[in-house]
Amino acid sequence: MAHLFNRNVLLGVSGGIAAYKSAELVRQLQERGASVRVIMTRGAREFITPLTLQALSGNPVHTELLDTGAEQGMGHIELARWADLLLIAPATADLIARLSAGRADDLLTTAALATPAPLMLAPAMNQQMWKDPATIANISQLSERGVHLVGPAAGQQACGDVGPGRMEAPPVIAEAAARLFENGLLAGTRIIITAGPTREALDPVRYLSNHSSGKMGYALAQAAVDAGATTTLVSGPVSLTPPEHVRCLRVESAGEMLEKCLELVPECDIFIACAAVADYRPAAIEQQKIKKGPEQVTLHLVRNSDIVAVVAAGDNSPFTVGFAAETNDVLNYARDKMQRKGLDMIVANDVSDPSIGFNSDHNEATVLWRDGEQVLARSSKSTIARQIVELIAVANKGGMCV
Ligand code: C5P
Repeated sequence: MAHLFNRNVLLGVSGGIAAYKSAELVRQLQERGASVRVIMTRGAREFITPLTLQALSGNPVHTELLDTGAEQGMGHIELARWADLLLIAPATADLIARLSAGRADDLLTTAALATPAPLMLAPAMNQQMWKDPATIANISQLSERGVHLVGPAAGQQACGDVGPGRMEAPPVIAEAAARLFENGLLAGTRIIITAGPTREALDPVRYLSNHSSGKMGYALAQAAVDAGATTTLVSGPVSLTPPEHVRCLRVESAGEMLEKCLELVPECDIFIACAAVADYRPAAIEQQKIKKGPEQVTLHLVRNSDIVAVVAAGDNSPFTVGFAAETNDVLNYARDKMQRKGLDMIVANDVSDPSIGFNSDHNEATVLWRDGEQVLARSSKSTIARQIVELIAVANKGGMCV
């Protein structure tokens, strides 16, 4: 069974008789590890109550586009950014037509336009409607735009007809949704990812550190595993659980992180430095707790080695990716940093905006490489991680032509 750990699934339910199966679908998605939020169209609410899906998903169900209360909480843009996948099940003929036309006339179609996450549809309609040339044209247009389809299944229909048009069974839909993240793009490659902060000890009880949560590095590890890579995290102290199938090696200081990376790097193809490594450490670690004394004390700090630069400068260095957190003139500083450190790629983000970066669940970034760049619109760290891994996969094969 494929998993959806750490994935946010936005489930859209439109108005068909199959809407009653959405309750079971919420369960199936959760069993695979997903967090689920639900949007219901007006038609869907004729078939199943929001209360049912609210109770099962554990979150309020979203129904209105123009709802000031909702917009103050999780409005349509936040929902669209929160999603790692927008799954619409059932997707009726009318909804498919509206999606194909690019309409934004209710919350669900608006979220579909506003999300950078992939879109998957589980069509459900009468077999004659499914075979109608209008539906066929709409489906083929959506497929060309990269929309994923699961089903429909064939068989006895609620209206008495027999043929294709039944919504696929919830376990089949949940499995297809989970498989979407397993793209095999990096099958056979070995990746090392540094993540989290480092701690530089002052004495046995105190240290210097920073606010890095490790979320971005851990999301990258998940995306790397989903892409089929053998993945090792070298992680500073964070409160996160490593994704399944990731080897996680815990370190405290920048010195330990460097040592661990140098030990592992000869066996790796791709190195991603996502850790917020302390640039300086205390010149000496006191053996005893430093006692309170004078009004002012001076700390003597010495420079830590730059781990990513050391890795990039080594013989047979792997494809090396760094991060650049900047507050101004982001792209120029990032490109300069990429050249100075000898990196193949750099992910630049603007940390002057407190709603992204360090402790946030969201991020937005520009990925730069030698002869190109790509903007990654604001979305969950998990979606950003998947996009970064896709860019690395193309660039590492030497064919970056975005
Ligand atoms: O120079 P700056 O700290 O802004 O560079 C950030 C990038 O360098 C990140 O990819 C970070 O993981 C890496 N880095 C490192 N070792 C250091 C400092 C930064 O690997 N000592």
